[in-house]
Amino acid sequence: MRTQWAYELGWGQAFLELPDFVPGFSTHLKLEGFNPAGSVKLKAARAMVENAEADGVLKPGSRLIESTSGNLGIALASVCAAKGHRLTLVTDPNANEHSVRFMRALGAEVVVITARDSNGGFLQSRIELIHRVLAEDPSVVWLNQYVNPANPGAHLDTTAVEIFQGFGAPDWLFIGAGTSGTLMGVTEYVRRTRAATRIVAVDTLGSVTFGGPPGRRWIPGLGASRRPEIFEDDGSFDKVLVEERDTVLMCRHIARSYGLLLGGSSGTVLAAVRAMRDSISSGSTVLAIAPDLGDRYLDSLYDDDWVTARFGPAATALT
Ligand SMILES: Cc1ncc(COP(=O)(O)O)c(C=O)c1O
Repeated sequence: MRTQWAYELGWGQAFLELPDFVPGFSTHLKLEGFNPAGSVKLKAARAMVENAEADGVLKPGSRLIESTSGNLGIALASVCAAKGHRLTLVTDPNANEHSVRFMRALGAEVVVITARDSNGGFLQSRIELIHRVLAEDPSVVWLNQYVNPANPGAHLDTTAVEIFQGFGAPDWLFIGAGTSGTLMGVTEYVRRTRAATRIVAVDTLGSVTFGGPPGRRWIPGLGASRRPEIFEDDGSFDKVLVEERDTVLMCRHIARSYGLLLGGSSGTVLAAVRAMRDSISSGSTVLAIAPDLGDRYLDSLYDDDWVTARFGPAATALT
C-alpha cells in the first residue's frame, strides 16, 4: 500500500455536535467525509480488497469489477490505484458526474448503465452486466459489496470501535442503509458488547431493503432496488423510512443553519432523528453517522432547478 488512510490517522474521531437540532437531547454527527476518498466507503473498499488479497483471489495486477452508485467506486478506485490493481466500475445515471470524473481521474474504467430494471431501479441491470463480463473473463474479480462479509466486517473493526471507544456509547445511533454494511457491522458490535445503545436503521422510501415496495429514487447512497444479501433484520433495531423530499429539505436546512454541507444520506438520517424525536427521552445523546459531505451534491440537492424539477418549488424552501 502506497498511501495511508485518514481513519488510521485518527480522523475517525471527527464528531460534531449540532446544537439545538432537536431541543431536549443532544445530536452529534460522526463525519466520515474526511477519508481521502471522501466517504465512509473507503473502509469497506479497503477491507474487501485486502481480504481478497489474503485469500489469494486477488493477485498483483488483477482486474476487479464492482457495481456502485458512486462512493464505493471512488473508494475502490483509490485503493486499487494505491495497490496497482485494474478496476472497472458499473454505475448508473443517479451517480453524479463529479463522482464519475473522480473515479476516472483515479484510473478506473467507468461504465454507466442506462436501462432500468423491473423494479424501476438500476441495480439489477448493473449486476447483469457484471455477470456477462465474468462469463467472458473468469479471471476478473467481483468483490460484490452486497454479499461480501468484509463489508460489514470493516465497520465492526473500525466504525463501531471509533464510536464506542472514541465517542462513547450513545443512547441512540442512527445509521443509513445502502448495502447495509455500516448498519450490520455496527449492529454486530453492539450485539457482541451488549451495549445499551438503541440503533435506528434508516432508509429511503422506495427502497426494498426493509420490505417496502420499490419506487423511484433520485439520491445516491441509501436504498436498494434489490435486498442486499448481507442485510439481516434480527429485530434488534428500529427502522425508519424517509421521503427524499425530506432529505433535500434537511440537507438545505443544515447548510443554512449550521454552515455544514452534508451529503444526501446524512440529511436522510437527520430527518429520521427528527421523525423519532417523540421517542427519544430528554437528556439523551444521539449520534448519526454522516457518510459523506455535500460538495458532490452541488448540482443536485443544492441546486434549485434540480430540486424543483423533482420535488416541486416548496422543497427549496428554508425550514
Ligand atoms: C453517501 C452514502 N451514504 C450511505 C451509504 C450506505 O452505506 P452502506 O453501504 O454501508 O449501507 C453509502 C454507500 O455507498 C453512501 O455512498
